[in-house]
Amino acid sequence: MAVNNAMTADFLRSAYGGESMAHMRYLIWGEEANKNGFPNIGRLFNAVANAEWVHARNHFNVLKDGIGDNSVVAGAVFGNTDIVQNLQGAIDGELHEVKQMYPVYLETAKFQVEKGAERSFHYALEAEKIHAELFKNAQEKAKSGADIGSDKIYVCPVCGYTEIGDKVQQCPVCGAKKEMFRNF
Ligand SMILES: [Fe+2]
Ligand SMILES: [Fe+2]
Repeated sequence: MAVNNAMTADFLRSAYGGESMAHMRYLIWGEEANKNGFPNIGRLFNAVANAEWVHARNHFNVLKDGIGDNSVVAGAVFGNTDIVQNLQGAIDGELHEVKQMYPVYLETAKFQVEKGAERSFHYALEAEKIHAELFKNAQEKAKSGADIGSDKIYVCPVCGYTEIGDKVQQCPVCGAKKEMFRNF
């Protein structure tokens, strides 16, 4: 399914760029969390990094017929200080996606009847809402010097839905079976 509208294509490329950088940033912050004695927050960063990879892959594949060079303008968060600040960066990035970026991208895709982009943006928006909450909870723990618990963290490989512990048997966003989920 080709993308027919320039604005939706631009939004897909920008979202791909943003997700790609989020993926890398979370791997870096995960390594930092591990080094500083927060291995479970480190796992959370690694799990969410995988979810952002799922989003980047989905956006990239919607654009798969558009071979060629493009400059990509995308939101990026920088900084690598202490765990509480790194988690604040993560929360800010997720909330930007939830409140500003994906709602606008999603409405544009709907308006332009771009079904592939609509699905990809919907999956990302729903997962980022959860990521924001997971990072807020982790930051509350980190503020008191504590790590999060050791429950497994699961990521849906189709939409990036993320959960701590065994809550669902089927992905509530895309319907994928729990057996497909990756765990961290
Ligand atoms: Fe996210
Ligand atoms: Fe899913």
